[in-house]
Amino acid sequence: MNELQKQFPILTVPENGKRLIYLDNAATTQKPLSVLKAVEDYYRQDNANPHRGVYELGVRATDAHENARVAVARFLHAAPEELIFTQNTSEGLNLVAYSYGLEFLKAGDEIALSVAEHHSNLVPWQRVAKATGAKLVYFYPGPDGRLSEEELDRKITDRTRLVAIAQVSNVLGLEAPVASVVRRARAVGAVVVLDCAQSAPHLPVDVKALDVDFAAFSGHKLYAPMGVGALYGKKALLEKMPPFLSGGDMIASVHEQSVSYAEIPRCFEAGTRNVGGEVGLEAAIRFMDSLGWEQIQAHEKALTARALKGLAAIPHITVYGEPVPEERCGVISFNVDGVHPHDTATILDASGIAVRAGHHCAQPLMEFLGITACARASFAVYNTEEDVDAFLSSVEQVRRWMGLGT
Ligand SMILES: Cc1ncc(COP(=O)(O)O)c(C=O)c1O
Repeated sequence: MNELQKQFPILTVPENGKRLIYLDNAATTQKPLSVLKAVEDYYRQDNANPHRGVYELGVRATDAHENARVAVARFLHAAPEELIFTQNTSEGLNLVAYSYGLEFLKAGDEIALSVAEHHSNLVPWQRVAKATGAKLVYFYPGPDGRLSEEELDRKITDRTRLVAIAQVSNVLGLEAPVASVVRRARAVGAVVVLDCAQSAPHLPVDVKALDVDFAAFSGHKLYAPMGVGALYGKKALLEKMPPFLSGGDMIASVHEQSVSYAEIPRCFEAGTRNVGGEVGLEAAIRFMDSLGWEQIQAHEKALTARALKGLAAIPHITVYGEPVPEERCGVISFNVDGVHPHDTATILDASGIAVRAGHHCAQPLMEFLGITACARASFAVYNTEEDVDAFLSSVEQVRRWMGLGT
């Protein structure tokens, strides 16, 4: 166990009698001691309901909440007033769908999105389309898993009012051509909603440089606790959107028959906030800062390259999306011929190796690929070459375990 792994208590506990080799990081990451301690310290020392109490403890809780907002905004290169705390990516995307989509889209408008979207960036748009009469138009990747410029040209037209796209696919692991999407969206006056659930843990996301209108991510995929995430929205758009959820702390004043709302971002944060989670997210960002993007990316790309090379040498394996390690963000989805991915995952589990199997909340992509499910290995900073080698030698044995020879 290396020094970094020692910072993650769960990695020290054996799984099936073996060292846990956790390769389901695209689903959620494990939490370092510094994050666990930050959450514990908040509840031990600073816990009160933010924006409510005028007493000293209440002020500390408010400071914890607002300081975390500043840290998360900086992480995305956004202004704090443009940063809304959410539970997760799904809530952020739903907020945009309901507060922007329902308000500003109408019959005949088009919502363009990739067939590779996670359900969280697809089902809300289906609901908006149904409610408004707008139409969903899908981008389809080529055989290499990439969206071509021609496909973007075909699908982003004068009728497009909104483009919803994941910066990195949770199945293919490839980066979307966000700059091309934004350029075309700007040309036709459409807004761009970026799902950063799989990008924020693996590459620096600069919402200003990308010039997207909205961007959402989940803390739990980048070493923070579950139940906290963030949505960036351009100030000019947030200011004209109605609130998503209503209730306490999102108002300026309420009368029997009328209400006026708080300023952004508070008008989008109804009810008591998950300040413990926000403090944990701030600590997770500090943890990532302490490693630095250069080291994070070099390490994760090296692991991905090793895994892709190893898989290519094993017969009967299909990897989905072009196996180019430099362009992958720590995600490798694959199938073993003749073996259901649940069996693959169960066989790997017997060796203490945790990988995900299923449709990965991307059923339209599964249909497009002509499969019902696949297995997925995904990497984080604490994974090692030994983890990759153990994964590869287990994958190599899958067909033998299933009685299918080599
Ligand atoms: C690309 C993508 N978008 C959205 C989500 C939803 O994230 P959450 O469940 O944290 O809301 C995920 C989760 O796996 C994802 O991979």
